[in-house]
Amino acid sequence: MVIYQNISLKPYNTFGLEASASEFVECNTIEEVQVLCATFNLSERPLLILGGGSNILLTQDFKGMVVKINLKGIAKVKEDEEHVWLKSNSGELWHNFVMHCVEAGLGGVENLSLIPGYIGAAPMQNIGAYGVEVKDTVEEVIAVEINSGKLVTFSNEACEFAYRESVFKHKHKGKYIIVSVTFKLKKNPTINAQYGAIKEVLQQKGILEPSIKDISDAVIAIRQSKLPDPKVLGNSGSFFKNPEIPTEHYNQLKINYPEIPGYVSGAELIKVPAGWLIEQCGYKGKVVGNTGAHKQQALVLVNYGEATGYEIYRLAMEIQNSVRDKFGILIVPEVNII
Ligand code: EPU
Repeated sequence: MVIYQNISLKPYNTFGLEASASEFVECNTIEEVQVLCATFNLSERPLLILGGGSNILLTQDFKGMVVKINLKGIAKVKEDEEHVWLKSNSGELWHNFVMHCVEAGLGGVENLSLIPGYIGAAPMQNIGAYGVEVKDTVEEVIAVEINSGKLVTFSNEACEFAYRESVFKHKHKGKYIIVSVTFKLKKNPTINAQYGAIKEVLQQKGILEPSIKDISDAVIAIRQSKLPDPKVLGNSGSFFKNPEIPTEHYNQLKINYPEIPGYVSGAELIKVPAGWLIEQCGYKGKVVGNTGAHKQQALVLVNYGEATGYEIYRLAMEIQNSVRDKFGILIVPEVNII
């Protein structure tokens, strides 16, 4: 393991932002992660664990150690009549894992096709799309405790999953490095084609009884048509979480904005698409300097090439204030701001 000094993080974040790390190390095995934790006092210095870099906004140089997780490998660990359990190390590309499952006819993650990032980030923020969240297939997560270098296993319950949330973002923030995730997948998949856009694609293709491959293909087509490819236009997916507001507040807004979309998300709570709120504030497709809200999905902030992280941050705060002033709703970033 080599520790490099003053390394540019530009190739390691999907916003394509320039920022340097004081120290940078890559781990290729679980043992290397353990040795790193046991040898260095990682908890005593600023630490950034990096997978695909698809959920971070670097607003300044990072004066600490960046640990890039390169742990590869997918293996079958168990099988019964109905399920197969696959364990993936955390440095595998999420989409490669999804393709592995789809090709093997194993259901559960096909709606999550083409989500950028690595396996390790999937349970961290409970990735979700098109009616499915990863929490529904995660069996367990294995992580190295940063303080001791010891391996700790978290059951699905212990991960305390919620909408784009887990225990690793709160109670255990900065305490563990996820090294593998085990998924419980179905041999006879339950097809989830409820999401409007998926239904439309299947209808257009005349598919009445979709396979998981059909669902995956439909999701890939929808994402490619709506969401910018980070390789072409720097971005990190949805910048904000969709806010959940009291039903009473939602009903009040409906008087002035009868077309406001909303989905019941709990007792007396309605989830409102942040993309709609941002669009109503006039930001959809608006270019502000080197950044802006994407023209097809206002929830995605983009780097038109030369943006700084701080510039994107300033726009995000401007949008946050604008939504709060117009609707009285606080939208909170989903992206990790460094
Ligand atoms: N909408 C607008 N204008 C916009 C964007 C959206 O009016 O510019 C409204 C429309 O009413 C649309 C609704 O918002 O019907 C929902 O839009 P979309 O289907 O694009 O989903 P989303 O709620 O904006 C969430 C996830 C995405 C995920 C999609 C699809 C969050 C924060 N985002 O976005 O996840 O792909 O659903 O399931 O929950 C990500 O987390 O990075 C991400 C891309």
